[in-house]
Amino acid sequence: MEKTTYEMSLSKNVSVEVYPGDFAWGAATAAYQIEGGWNVDGRGPSIWDVFSHTKGKVFEDQTGDVACNSYQLWDEDLRCIQHLGLTHYRLSFSWSRLLPDGTANNVNPKGVAYYNKVINDLIAKAIMPMVTLNHFDLPQDLHLRGGWKSPEIANYFDSYARFCFKTFGDRVKFWITLNEPYVFAKLGYEDGLIAPGVKEPGSAVYLVGHNMLRAHARAWHSYHAHFRHLQRGKVSIALNSDWAMPSDPGSPEDVEAAERYMDFSLGWFACPVFRTGDYPESMRSRIEARSLELGLVEGERLPKFSEDEPTVLGTADFFALNYYTSRKVNMIHPGPGELSFRADQGVEGSIDPSWPICGVSWLAVVPEGLRKLLKYIKETYKNPDIYITENGFSQMGPVVLEDLDRCQFYHDTLQEVSKAIRDDGVNVKGYFAWSLLDNFEWTYGFSVRFGLFHVDFSRAERNRTIYCSGREYAAVISRHRTHIKLRKN
Ligand code: GAL
Repeated sequence: MEKTTYEMSLSKNVSVEVYPGDFAWGAATAAYQIEGGWNVDGRGPSIWDVFSHTKGKVFEDQTGDVACNSYQLWDEDLRCIQHLGLTHYRLSFSWSRLLPDGTANNVNPKGVAYYNKVINDLIAKAIMPMVTLNHFDLPQDLHLRGGWKSPEIANYFDSYARFCFKTFGDRVKFWITLNEPYVFAKLGYEDGLIAPGVKEPGSAVYLVGHNMLRAHARAWHSYHAHFRHLQRGKVSIALNSDWAMPSDPGSPEDVEAAERYMDFSLGWFACPVFRTGDYPESMRSRIEARSLELGLVEGERLPKFSEDEPTVLGTADFFALNYYTSRKVNMIHPGPGELSFRADQGVEGSIDPSWPICGVSWLAVVPEGLRKLLKYIKETYKNPDIYITENGFSQMGPVVLEDLDRCQFYHDTLQEVSKAIRDDGVNVKGYFAWSLLDNFEWTYGFSVRFGLFHVDFSRAERNRTIYCSGREYAAVISRHRTHIKLRKN
């Protein structure tokens, strides 16, 4: 009883009246993290199958072979989505389920049928799908052909994107080309911590980021030229960002460090797409200066955008933001011989001791950072429509279904978003909680839980049970819906 009172009071405190009538209330997932069915019905392997099947890469050598088994249990997921009252659901396609070798020469009809069912079921319940074309899980065959380091990848990705627009675009109106190029390039090719597990500090990271931008731009231009007039959808790319604040706001050096932290993370991708068509000036100058110091050829590490290719500037119909945490930032002075992204960036972020940590050590809970970041995006990137395409709070250790700290987190975060809308005039159009379900959290396997629904990974049925925070989120959505109805009458 007591808990119900607590929940009610929390959700009641969110200023729902501030949110626009057509606000997208969503939750997000990604194919490899939930689907399972890794080798059934014609699906080809992805870099994540290979990575997770390699000993020592993932917590307790866990894999996404079964995960939440959403490939078989989609009906259960749909029930969860409806239970929350979501208006939108963000999912990703497994590229190698649709095109097993990554190329459009070989289409897997069972993969097409699966996603058709998902999309049709959502639409039948008036839930809008938002589809990410590639959320970290590149088809392995394309990886073997050079993957994201090869310039050819932009052609493969464009063909895949066109195939998806043609096949599903009559119903899907929100497309995200790629998820978090920063995380993929940095953790996948600099640190070697996620698939494909490459460690080539200070070089591959920029090439991969560049090819991701080229691939994204190609797909956006294809949509714009061939599909937009018929399908009237929107296409963007999901960019993650911390909010960086100077360690000492009174120190000009720390202020500059925080700016540079933003340039090397969000700006790396947002500046070319939303502002100038090129990388931030601080990235160009830092990387060039350090290359000279290291005796490397100028322009070899951070590639140039070719004038012979369609421009990357303007290739997003909205701003898709994934926000999790904030950092206090100061300068570092790397050794002269150090070749790494960190040395290029020349700054370092740390966690303020007053910020609570939830689950994973990197995740300091700073809801107010989101408001500041939203305002920064408004001011830096020409006041775009913003969808928060991921934001969440994790649990590690014993499962707590009455997750009151996560309830508080959603409450505080949604309050910060309402302040951004009302007081800062930011055009926030939607919010997607990460995640609908507990799932395969990359190298942490199943040891970290982000779901609004608990999933019992010890049972074949993979039972889904709502967390207190799921009920809380549902209550906020329902209050908003009631408010809109009253406003209309
Ligand atoms: C994001 C990623 C998600 C999810 C989340 C929580 O970087 O897009 O797939 O894992 O982090 O760590």
